[in-house]
Amino acid sequence: MTISEFPKTFPRLETERLILREIRLDDRYGIFGNFSDEEVAKWFFDVPYSAIEQADEIIQSFINEFKEGKGLTWAMTLKESNEFVGTCGYGEVEIGACGEIGFDLAKEHWGKGLMSEALSAIIDFGFDMLGLSKVEARTYSTNSRAIRLLRRLGFQLEDVRGDSHYFALIEKDRKNPEFSDSSSARKPIP
Ligand SMILES: CC(C)(COP(=O)(O)OP(=O)(O)OC[C@H]1O[C@@H](n2cnc3c(N)ncnc32)[C@H](O)[C@@H]1OP(=O)(O)O)[C@@H](O)C(=O)NCCC(=O)NCCS
Repeated sequence: MTISEFPKTFPRLETERLILREIRLDDRYGIFGNFSDEEVAKWFFDVPYSAIEQADEIIQSFINEFKEGKGLTWAMTLKESNEFVGTCGYGEVEIGACGEIGFDLAKEHWGKGLMSEALSAIIDFGFDMLGLSKVEARTYSTNSRAIRLLRRLGFQLEDVRGDSHYFALIEKDRKNPEFSDSSSARKPIP
């Protein structure tokens, strides 16, 4: 079913290891943890966060974007422990047309396939429920982890401009990444 309209209530999504839910003001410590970490923050800001109030501000902007029908940013929490690990979402979305994704994950959780799992879910949501025909992503050309992740999900490079790579995914190219790891979250069901 395609609803092709901006959701009235924030959509909660579930993957094998994650709950993707609406961001709340009490996510401030998790958000601050990520954006005060130089290795995460350098892809978004000139200077990492140094005050917890900066987390409050960005949370409020995510909440406002949803209220205004402009964007959807999910908090990612681990099912097992309820721990906040990052965010992912459509910073900008045009229902029935195109959405641009953004994402960040706490460093201690890199290399486990968690962001691939989360992005697969929000991309499915974008195509299936928001009627998108294209999902876009821009990343710094030096952000090799993000580029690897986008390619694994089926994104194609559309342009290289300045210091950035511009990727896009159309529905026919979307992939659910497979991993060789025996603990893979996406092993085929026998
Ligand atoms: C970009 C970012 C989200 C990527 O995180 P990540 O953990 O590497 O991404 P994935 O969830 O796709 O994990 C894939 C890795 O987990 C490994 N992995 C291990 N166990 C796995 C499992 N059970 N299931 C899936 N993958 C697993 C994969 O082999 C892969 O490793 P590789 O990239 O070395 O080949 C993270 O580096 C980040 O938050 N960076 C800072 C913010 C940022 O750059 N945002 C993007 C701005 S455009």
